Amino acid sequence: MRHMLDIADWSIEELQWLMDTADDIIAKPEDYANAMVRKKLASLFYEPSTRTRLSFEAAMLELGGSVLGFSEASSSSASKGESVSDTVRTVSCYADIIAMRHPKEGAPTVAARYSSVPIVNAGDGGHNHPTQTLADLLTIRREKGRLQNLVIGFCGDLQFGRTVHSLLTAMSRYQGVKFVLISPEELRIPAYLRENMLKAQVPFSEVQKLEDVIKSLDILYMTRVQRERFFNEADYVRLKDSYILDKQKLALAHSQLTVLHPLPRVNEISQSVDSDPRACYFKQVLYGKFMREALILKLLEAKA
Ligand code: CP
Repeated sequence: MRHMLDIADWSIEELQWLMDTADDIIAKPEDYANAMVRKKLASLFYEPSTRTRLSFEAAMLELGGSVLGFSEASSSSASKGESVSDTVRTVSCYADIIAMRHPKEGAPTVAARYSSVPIVNAGDGGHNHPTQTLADLLTIRREKGRLQNLVIGFCGDLQFGRTVHSLLTAMSRYQGVKFVLISPEELRIPAYLRENMLKAQVPFSEVQKLEDVIKSLDILYMTRVQRERFFNEADYVRLKDSYILDKQKLALAHSQLTVLHPLPRVNEISQSVDSDPRACYFKQVLYGKFMREALILKLLEAKA
């Protein structure tokens, strides 16, 4: 049975099929309105979420299906000590597909071993967030018209930023892509990702100042410094405002830059940037719903 646990498990051709299908849903939503009648999505969110949970639920509803689930661990039997494996064995009896967010890295992979329905990793700790990557890929393809030959800057918390880890893994497979990794020393990407890029001969540089490199970028992917991943509040306070994209900094970039952010944001993009045509983070939010519709179609078609 097919799951969506890690974007690396999905081929370029499969990702293209998802993007093509999402484009088709955007163009002809009525063709898909009854595609999932009598099917149910369970959203098991052990960690807070606005976009991922609601877009999965909206996606299933727009396909004619139904949704059930919980939005915090405290309202499920996890609060009584139930394991992830027992929870998914139970929920598999009620739903056709499960989207799971969990603070522990690898929890959706464990879930997939015990589930009789497809599992979607909706974010696992500071590890991966493959369906955010689906939203990012469609946004890049629609904004740039291509996924090849791009200079992509990732800025902020690259250590714990699971959306960065998944997008970097996905984009490493496209020809002519170069990465500029902009972070404080303490928040550089994990060593395993650096090793993967070196092995695959993907060009990248690591810098600390956004102003020094912004002009060279086709895409700037801003991220939040995540309070919930720090062990020490003092370190969070010291690093949280390391990067703030405002109109002055954006003026240094070229006119075709695309600014992305998985959201939620705190201070790292000034609201004054939102009206700039280069700001595409709310398009990402919308495209995420269509990509999740395409993913539900693919996973349930593969299961049938
Ligand atoms: N991008 C993202 O995962 O947002 P949420 O935490 O609101 O789901």
